[in-house]
Amino acid sequence: MQLNFYAVRGAITVYKDDRESVLRKTKLLLNEIIKQNRLSHADIISIIFTATKDIRSVYPTVAAREMGMTDIPLICCQEMDVEGSLALCIRVMMNIRSEEHLKPKHVYLEGAVSLRPDLASRYTIAIDGPAGAGKSTIAKLLAEKLNILYLDTGAMYRAFALQVLESGLDPEVKADVEKVIDQTEISIKHDNGLQRVFLNNRDVTDEIRSERVSKAASAVAVIPEVRRKLVELQRKIAATNDLVMDGRDIGTYVLPDANLKIFLTASAEERARRRWSELKSKGLDVDYGSVLSDILKRDHNDSHREFAPLKKADDAILIDTTDKTIQEVVEQIESLVDFRRY
Ligand code: DC
Repeated sequence: MQLNFYAVRGAITVYKDDRESVLRKTKLLLNEIIKQNRLSHADIISIIFTATKDIRSVYPTVAAREMGMTDIPLICCQEMDVEGSLALCIRVMMNIRSEEHLKPKHVYLEGAVSLRPDLASRYTIAIDGPAGAGKSTIAKLLAEKLNILYLDTGAMYRAFALQVLESGLDPEVKADVEKVIDQTEISIKHDNGLQRVFLNNRDVTDEIRSERVSKAASAVAVIPEVRRKLVELQRKIAATNDLVMDGRDIGTYVLPDANLKIFLTASAEERARRRWSELKSKGLDVDYGSVLSDILKRDHNDSHREFAPLKKADDAILIDTTDKTIQEVVEQIESLVDFRRY
């Protein structure tokens, strides 16, 4: 059995120096490091603690002992007292061993987030693919199972397209679309796991599902300025949430460092058949041929645009859903999720 050795860093602040606060915050930090790195006490070789000079009420090691870490070598030191440094801060260096190769997750909490803002990233899953491949259904179910957020980026392009249409402008004309960029405020709220999309503070979640908006969304999504605006919002949401994000350019452009990248696809005929039966079940009388030609047009738009086109990222896992059930695909992706890799 080959063992691998790692060091995990962490830090937290207390509001005041009293025994109860120091012990509670130290336990919080240790528990979070253990949880995020999926450790057991047996994986921990030793822990070094430091506390800033303004902490004098109790040794942070006492918290570890109270948590049952009685056989683990622990030591406390005083942190260097550098002028202007973060006050009331407890730092930890945990030495661990593991049979697996893992990317240690360093944990900075509360005021200590400011020490390493670069590490404040989250677990992100990028799902890309053409229209009708099953992305949103699968991403939603996956997020539910993993208890993380689902972000449907297509809804943002749709909301933007609605604004263009409502302004009486042509979504195919770049100059027209660019006119409304500055007046368009798109925001997302999550209510019980369900995403609601707001256009200038108006809830448009249901309105954006029409075929007219679908076509317009595909057209406006070609325009770099529109993409830049929406990508900024997408990255902001990903910086503060563990999430599954689906779209066309998530793995290649929006989140190039996503922990897991999936490219979902299916034949154009199968995707058109799915869309056609969905519309039929809503009581709409549509012709399969025109659904297929719409799908082909959107595929062409999405994959031929100059800026961030639909493309499989080199490190994405390709899943063809043509002959698979939704459940099979969700289970396949779930088996690839490894929270240790963050
Ligand atoms: O996934 P959807 O059908 O809701 O997406 C609507 C349109 O937005 C689609 O034609 C492609 C575009 N889109 C995009 O270009 N980039 C994304 N990340 C998401 C959607």
